[in-house]
Amino acid sequence: MKIGIVLGTRPEIIKMSSLIDEINKHDDECVIIHTGQHFDDEMSKQFFIDLNLPLPDYNIGIGSNTAIKQISIIISELEKILIDEKIDIVLVQGDTNAVLAGALAANKLKIPVGHVEAGLRSFDKDMPEENNRIIADNCSSLFFVPTKENAINLQNEGINHKDIHVTGNTIVDACKRNLKIAIEKSGVKDIIKYDKYIVLTLHRAENVDNPERLKNIVRSLLKLEYNIVFPLHPHTKKSLEENDLYEQMLKSSHIQITKPLGYLDFLYLLSKSSLVLTDSGGIQEESITLNIPCVTLRYNTERPETISAGGNILAGTEEKEIKYNIESILNNEEVYEKMANAVNPYGNGDSSEKIYSIIKDAFENNRLKIKSSDTIVDFEGYLMKNITNDITVEEFENENKNQIIEQIFYNGLPEFIDEKTNLKNKSIIIKKFKQRT
Ligand code: UD1
Ligand code: UDP
Repeated sequence: MKIGIVLGTRPEIIKMSSLIDEINKHDDECVIIHTGQHFDDEMSKQFFIDLNLPLPDYNIGIGSNTAIKQISIIISELEKILIDEKIDIVLVQGDTNAVLAGALAANKLKIPVGHVEAGLRSFDKDMPEENNRIIADNCSSLFFVPTKENAINLQNEGINHKDIHVTGNTIVDACKRNLKIAIEKSGVKDIIKYDKYIVLTLHRAENVDNPERLKNIVRSLLKLEYNIVFPLHPHTKKSLEENDLYEQMLKSSHIQITKPLGYLDFLYLLSKSSLVLTDSGGIQEESITLNIPCVTLRYNTERPETISAGGNILAGTEEKEIKYNIESILNNEEVYEKMANAVNPYGNGDSSEKIYSIIKDAFENNRLKIKSSDTIVDFEGYLMKNITNDITVEEFENENKNQIIEQIFYNGLPEFIDEKTNLKNKSIIIKKFKQRT
């Protein structure tokens, strides 16, 4: 089997690293295609070094550009690469422009797509990431969702439950595999100025490209009575400079700005911090994995399970709210302990093993082919049924050929559809077909 991995930014390299290792452990071929969206060594090459990965086979080199230029160039370059390489399945991870372009290019070539970290939804169409992940999911054949909540989002959008696999998040694999190495090897401790500190990261377009929000956040940081270590994303550096905020932050004695850090250095920094303040997606997941309370500088999150687990709080970007949330965690031991001990919803670090074996099984059993039916299939419509007898999802669908369960409700709430779920006393929504031979 030949697997093509399309990636373009720092978090995709980190979150695909354990899966690349897994593929390379077996007899399969892995072709890594970097779009070049992140191009500075500290945003890209450093992660291949830290994570011991083979360098990409291709780099499309799109660099900084408008989203439309980036996406259209990636798609047309991928056409040649995917055809020449005779790729059996394309894997994309997350919600960046590489994910949208990779999924769309493969879909147009009828190459199946596996979406790692599928099903996340912030329900905020103003975010480029939300649109990217929805389009990528629409182009995909296999959905590797971190949690059951993500699966329910896809069920709601009519995705067949047979293609949805709850695998946890590969960020846990990356954290667990690298934390010990980071603690032994990272040299970042020699440059951190403070014993106790908050880690800050900021880069999302909705914050850093919005001068009002950016100013509010910076105003709040400048007044905080805690030390802050701030590895600065190049996107944010540019916006801080454009808004005359960079110098003010640089001069502040309780804020230490560093370059973007490599993965081992960042893991070390995060694991020794008191709290993380961030708008990053991956860091909301890593903080709950490493038992560090997280305050998210956003108004919504596609990672709501970190909040319901109790490890993360949405603070928005207003000065007062940011200060209030940080103080109420750091000045109250009980609150702090509760957040730090929140149960990680993203699995135990075996996501990449699970994902690899699902792909392998689908490939070997010829289930990766995109092909329509040779018999006439009439779509009859949707039905709702209340089930009163003991019957599992698998048994129901075997008994009722041409009926696919789209959603299960129990006590008014939707449930993740597992083949073994007993449907007794539950309501189901079914998609019904009539097949003629
Ligand atoms: C991108 C993703 C975002 C993800 C983030 C991870 C999209 C739409 N956005 O945002 O979802 O959370 O990566 O970090 O795909 N720049 C450099 N050097 C680099 C990379 C970027 O200088 O190596 C600067 C450029 O000036 C560029 C700006 O940062 O214009 C923004 O880069 P871009 O890749 O468009 O978006 P990110 O903010 O990195
Ligand atoms: N990260 C890193 N160095 C840094 C900041 C972040 O290695 O200086 C890692 C972090 O550990 C996480 C990932 O980058 O795994 C998150 O990427 P980012 O915040 O850029 O993007 P997002 O997750 O929001 O898409």
